Amino acid sequence: MNAPVHAGAVLVIACLAAAKTIVITVGGNTTTFVPQSVAAALGDIVTFNFVSGNHTATESTFSNPCIPAHETDITINGFDSGFRETRSNTSGSILTVPILIQNVNHTFWFFDYNSCGEGGVGVINDNESSTETLAGFVRNAIRLNGTSSSDNTSTSTSSRPSSTTSSSPSVSASKSAADRAFWIGASNAIPLFIASLFI
Ligand SMILES: *[C@@H]1O[C@H](CO)[C@@H](O)[C@H](O)[C@H]1NC(C)=O
Ligand SMILES: *[C@@H]1O[C@H](CO)[C@@H](O)[C@H](O)[C@H]1NC(C)=O
Ligand SMILES: *[C@@H]1O[C@H](CO)[C@@H](O)[C@H](O)[C@H]1NC(C)=O
Ligand SMILES: *[C@@H]1O[C@H](CO)[C@@H](O)[C@H](O)[C@H]1NC(C)=O
Ligand SMILES: *[C@@H]1O[C@H](CO)[C@@H](O)[C@H](O)[C@H]1NC(C)=O
Ligand SMILES: *[C@@H]1O[C@H](CO)[C@@H](O)[C@H](O)[C@H]1NC(C)=O
Ligand SMILES: *[C@@H]1O[C@H](CO)[C@@H](O)[C@H](O)[C@H]1NC(C)=O
Repeated sequence: MNAPVHAGAVLVIACLAAAKTIVITVGGNTTTFVPQSVAAALGDIVTFNFVSGNHTATESTFSNPCIPAHETDITINGFDSGFRETRSNTSGSILTVPILIQNVNHTFWFFDYNSCGEGGVGVINDNESSTETLAGFVRNAIRLNGTSSSDNTSTSTSSRPSSTTSSSPSVSASKSAADRAFWIGASNAIPLFIASLFI
């Protein structure tokens, strides 16, 4: 009578044993995200570990690095940590992003709201055969949201624009959009997906 339960338990344990936890440190000394690029397989969990400063880990899209993904592509229910202010050496402020069957081939581009314009961005599962690279993503972030362009909607003069993006941001300049940016609670929403995976 208990056999199906045991079989299910064994299956879950087998899945968990194969899964890796991949840690991205947020707020270290060099770049906001360390490492900036990780590869995660089905069943792995990517954990953003906020260690210092006031940062977010927010999913965006390649062509709009510093804007939450949901605002530029309504079909993406992107993850978003919201602001995490972390005092030195405190622990426990994390955001987890599990790699599930429905996102196993998805490239997650992400940014920190407070350092995006300085290149505070990263990627989970970039596509090596795509022209959309981390280096290009960093350039886009600095070009579109860096201080030299913050009050200019005209094209950049100093840097060579990446050929992989449109020439200028086409997002409407609504301040309230930024204020509304952080309502998608990935840390709340994603465990529901995990739960449903095991039902
Ligand atoms: C930053 O570097 C300093 C000096 O190397 C070190 O003391 C400090 O712990 C580092 N902070 C983080 C968040 O890694
Ligand atoms: C974190 O940064 C945001 C945006 O810059 C700011 O609105 C918020 O007050 C900051 N949080 C803390 C605790 O300083
Ligand atoms: C953080 O931890 C390190 C090593 O445990 C310690 O040397 C340092 O003083 C701590 N910093 C703070 C701000 O508590
Ligand atoms: C992910 O991509 C691989 C290689 O292209 C493919 O074999 C696999 O079916 C894809 N998985 C899903 C869930 O789309
Ligand atoms: C980046 O710039 C765009 C367009 O001006 C703006 O909508 C967005 O809020 C900015 N992002 C950040 C993180 O400042
Ligand atoms: C990776 O990029 C190549 C070239 O754009 C594309 O053909 C392929 O489908 C992409 N793979 C995934 C898993 O998105
Ligand atoms: C915006 O562009 C104008 C003309 O290109 C320049 O004079 C001005 O300094 C720029 N402003 C900023 C904040 O970069």
